[in-house]
Amino acid sequence: MLKAKIKALRDELEQHNYNYYVLSAPTISDFEFDKMMKELQELEEAHPEFADPDSPTRRVGSDLSKEFEQVVHKYPMLSLGNTYSEDEIRDFYDRTTRSLNEPFEIVAELKYDGTSISLTYEKGRLVRAVTRGDGTRGDDVTANIKTIRSVPLRLRGTDFPEEFEIRGEVLLPWAEFDRLNKEREEQEESLFANPRNAASGTLKQQNPAIVASRKLDAYFYYLLGENLPAEGHYENLQAARTWGFKIPDVIRKCQSLQDIFDYIAYWDVERKNLPVATDGIVLKVNSLRQQRNLGFTSKSPRWAIAYKFQAERAETRLNSVSFQVGRTGTVTPVANLEPVLLAGTVVKRASLHNADIIEGLDLHIGDQVYVEKGGEIIPKIVGVNVEARSMLMGDKVRFIRVCPECGTPLVRPEGEAAHYCPNESGCPPQIKGRIEHFVTRKAMNINIGPETVEDLYNAGYVKNSADLYTLTVADLLRLERWAEKSAQNLMLSLEESKQVPFERVLFGLGIRFVGETVAKRLASAFHSIEALEQASLEDLVAVDEIGERIAQSVLSYFSDEKNRMLVNRLKEHGLRMAVSEEQLANRSEKLKGLTIVISGTFSKHSRDEYKAMIEQHGGKNSGSVSGKTDYILAGENMGPAKLEKAAKLGVKIINEDEFLNMLE
Ligand code: IVH
Repeated sequence: MLKAKIKALRDELEQHNYNYYVLSAPTISDFEFDKMMKELQELEEAHPEFADPDSPTRRVGSDLSKEFEQVVHKYPMLSLGNTYSEDEIRDFYDRTTRSLNEPFEIVAELKYDGTSISLTYEKGRLVRAVTRGDGTRGDDVTANIKTIRSVPLRLRGTDFPEEFEIRGEVLLPWAEFDRLNKEREEQEESLFANPRNAASGTLKQQNPAIVASRKLDAYFYYLLGENLPAEGHYENLQAARTWGFKIPDVIRKCQSLQDIFDYIAYWDVERKNLPVATDGIVLKVNSLRQQRNLGFTSKSPRWAIAYKFQAERAETRLNSVSFQVGRTGTVTPVANLEPVLLAGTVVKRASLHNADIIEGLDLHIGDQVYVEKGGEIIPKIVGVNVEARSMLMGDKVRFIRVCPECGTPLVRPEGEAAHYCPNESGCPPQIKGRIEHFVTRKAMNINIGPETVEDLYNAGYVKNSADLYTLTVADLLRLERWAEKSAQNLMLSLEESKQVPFERVLFGLGIRFVGETVAKRLASAFHSIEALEQASLEDLVAVDEIGERIAQSVLSYFSDEKNRMLVNRLKEHGLRMAVSEEQLANRSEKLKGLTIVISGTFSKHSRDEYKAMIEQHGGKNSGSVSGKTDYILAGENMGPAKLEKAAKLGVKIINEDEFLNMLE
């Protein structure tokens, strides 16, 4: 009875996973889904005797970490021959025509730019997921792969072979990549250069719970085994789709070279509208018998070839390298380039990321360098035109040893790529950076910009955020560009900042790794700065989504006497150092499980106020409309793109009054 109930819940949840992640056509709301998941979780906890490693509850990832085991591939994971020219495709086609000496079909597919994976299924169950590794053996990452909702743990239907492997690409969709990097930027962590690195980095995470939080996806393109359903690659993939795999529906059978060139021409443009990164197309001979006849070279199959799209690249001169010191002391090298046009924009600077990258490129000042803007956000230097070097080669670029701003020797923590300036309390850009962060809109929302911070710092008035509250109108009038009116305005803005809720004050302190979201979590778990100060490592990591790294950073912040004094002074000036009674009293779960997107302008409350209300009532505020959106709270002038997407996805649009009614 109970067992049947558990099974029914599992089946139903898996069906909804499939609808959502494979078909992109959910039939229930997230709220209902979460409710069902919770019910299953509770039943499983109460009845461990009915445990099942394939239960949808396991997809959220357990916290167990372990080193990956190495597994030898049953069929080696080969790579493909690469070409960049249509001539070579013609050669491939002619070669195949000659070798086979009979008619053949070519299947054209997109080449997905992620990290490859090989899954083994036995009796319809996922038993193992292995990375490519060196092609012969790879890492067993089954626990991580199980967190990808579009990967079937159990197959649908019955017509699948008893045992087979399926290969595909694990991808981090652009939207997730952007979100992840934004979050990392906020926390001053190094950014992922492209979705491929982000996907492979994520898959190597030892903690499946982190993997689960990153929303990877997986597309499949290759079936291997003894008893495959069909004699054609294309037909096999169609069958695999019915078993529940995400098989791209853009694959096409081509009967001629012209068909192939048309496919390339179309996707070279259209790929920019896909949710995931692609870097070319793959051509495969369809018939498995013909594939066997053509065979393999030592590295790759003779029956397939990859055509890579040309990344947009330019050549220009490296004029100099500068080193920037961020708010938390991270030193970032930046290449200053002779301006050059690349993919429609003028590029003057490129990120060099870290010391290892500089060393790897063997850069010299004055070098002609190649700049690319592939999937990258910031253009990057991919190589040096060594031939263009003259006898008078410029100086070799070396990572600096001391802070360019304060002269303190830099440190590079073991295992990290970045260098830091450890002089937190004396290094000007770190001091100014912390104040700039403190006053930003999302923190204290004090009406001054970086230039004013600079002036106040230079004049000796402000050395930390608490000093702002001792400023007087007379002080300001002694500075350039200040008049009575603007000085009064700043006083007013400072006064108003004393009403800013605790979570934003906490965010404003600029504790490393404590971004907006983490600050909210900490505030709602501990309620006051005193409680947070006294929290132990165990207390901190017990909070949802607070890991060891964040916990250590909080502990280290409060272990510093200077920081405790700063917090005390801020408290004395009247800043909110605890969640208000009102906030505590007004909390509800009325919007629990609902994801709401805010769009347009409003008359009754500001956008930020609506955002706060959503969170206060247990809902989730999201920036973009997706299949997960439950409601759009729409004001005047809602963007047409959002409107169109909402209509397409059938997301309900509500106005201010309807929203406020929901909270009644
Ligand atoms: S077929 C033996 N099809 O590109 C042929 N590969 O250099 C096995 N890739 O390692 C690969 N999209 O990671 C194939 N539609 C596609 C692909 C694809 C991306 C990757 C894959 C492979 C590499 C080949």
